[in-house]
Amino acid sequence: SRSIRLAVIPGDGIGQEVVAQGLKVLGAVLPQDVKLETKEYDLGARRWHATGETLPDAELESLKEHDAILLGAIGDPSVPSGILERGLLLKLRFAFDHYVNLRPSKLFPNTATPLAGRPEIDFVVVREGTEGPYTGNGGSLRTGTPHEVATEVSLNTAYGVERVVRDAYERADARPRKKLTLVHKNNVLVHAGHMWKKIFDQVGEEYPEVTTDYLHVDAATIFFVTQPERFDVIVTDNLFGDILTDLAAAVTGGIGLAASGNINPTGAFPSMFEPVHGSAPDIAGTGKADPTATVLSTALLLRHLGYDAEAARIEEAVAADLAARDQTPRTTGEIGDALATRVAG
Ligand code: IPM
Ligand code: MN
Repeated sequence: SRSIRLAVIPGDGIGQEVVAQGLKVLGAVLPQDVKLETKEYDLGARRWHATGETLPDAELESLKEHDAILLGAIGDPSVPSGILERGLLLKLRFAFDHYVNLRPSKLFPNTATPLAGRPEIDFVVVREGTEGPYTGNGGSLRTGTPHEVATEVSLNTAYGVERVVRDAYERADARPRKKLTLVHKNNVLVHAGHMWKKIFDQVGEEYPEVTTDYLHVDAATIFFVTQPERFDVIVTDNLFGDILTDLAAAVTGGIGLAASGNINPTGAFPSMFEPVHGSAPDIAGTGKADPTATVLSTALLLRHLGYDAEAARIEEAVAADLAARDQTPRTTGEIGDALATRVAG
């Protein structure tokens, strides 16, 4: 019989609560003969306070023994900014070579958005996940003096750009509209920007059916708000993708619905699925967190592992649940229960 070995990192704040609902829905949607084996990892702020560790090597090794990772949220105000982000979340993305950070945006019915009633919005951002300004290259000079200098170097390799651009073309080619937009800033960032554009054009020759487009990132933010229906697949660098996908979430129903996958398409390492939102310490423990983004992330997880029908069932359940939502507030657990009932039914 089949099985899924799933590593679970609930993390900080609302991470614990939303992950519990994600697992509930996963359990409900999988066929009887698929065994879901979960192993939970105690990583995040609590662990760091207790032991000073963020992601010990032994745990990194053990995580490799899984088919996929489900992550809740990382970050806590009691930990200096950057420690958990770099030491845990980014360490995982880099160590497992998650070069495709996949972030779909869909305008679901009945959601609070400045764009309600607009034409259909259904696009996906392919954010590069292992390079750009996220590599930590750079440094500080003359720290603490009035002449302090800090650099943050964006690393872009032809190898790294080509593989993510190719993945984006593949995804665009598989969608009905077959459109791919490169977002960068090659009028200013001439070194990296021109390399991205050159590789984008070169790889494009292998995908004659895909229509291509280029936008500077500042112009892209305008179109995200005024004309989001123009986008199908977007490929962009790590930092631009980070910013654009928060904006995408905000205009398509809120950060409570935005799902993501940190994917290693080669299968060399487990891919990791997480909501785009953070740990929201202000509402942790109140039952106010919307688990929908995590549940939609489990759909991405299932599709990555080849369970397409089950992934689609989850997405349909979310669409139906959103369509039926009224003003009555529901707790995290109630939303999870409703979704679990829908996918099972
Ligand atoms: C995200 C987050 C992370 C990022 C942070 C927490 C390191 O904002 O997943 O979008 O910048 O990638
Ligand atoms: Mn972000």
